[in-house]
Amino acid sequence: MADERAQALQQLAGQVRICLECRLGATRGVAVPGEGPLDAELLWVGEAPGAAEDAAGLPFVGASGRFLRHEMHEAGLDPAAMYITNIVKCRPPGNRRPRVDEIAICTGLYLVRQMALVAPKAVVALGATAAGALLADTVKMTQEHGTWRQDYNLTAQGLPVFITYHPAAALRSERWRAELHADLQALADGRWRMAYG
Ligand code: URA
Repeated sequence: MADERAQALQQLAGQVRICLECRLGATRGVAVPGEGPLDAELLWVGEAPGAAEDAAGLPFVGASGRFLRHEMHEAGLDPAAMYITNIVKCRPPGNRRPRVDEIAICTGLYLVRQMALVAPKAVVALGATAAGALLADTVKMTQEHGTWRQDYNLTAQGLPVFITYHPAAALRSERWRAELHADLQALADGRWRMAYG
């Protein structure tokens, strides 16, 4: 069973790497499926690969990724135990925001299936684009960071979604950095399991 899921996840990654379903396929370097263990309790979702990820084919390996992993460590969360991916798997040109149709195509083909195969206890939405795409809603980060909602958009069972800042945004603002730090501490204390676990 675990073998089948691992195989299906690998197959999915193979499909991501050759995907040409939207315009981003024409301009990306290497597509970035995501990575992490099959039994990850938490699945982290960023916006889209940046330049470093587009070169490496791995998620969150640039400056914001290093910062994110540092913050996970600080909170007592082991980055190696997390499944980390993005809303769209290919870098948008010039790091522009992914467009609505790109998000719909990519999440429908890949993120929905990744969430079903990994079956995490919860998803962590990094930034307003990720939170908005997961929840099909406009998310005001300064008001909603550190809170939980349920995803009935991409999952039928209402997977719990923890909302926090994108690490690149947190790197630009001392206040958002402190708030991301506090959010991850709250996530790590695990009390959410009583409501959702
Ligand atoms: N920013 C993201 O949203 N995702 C990455 O993988 C890297 C930077």
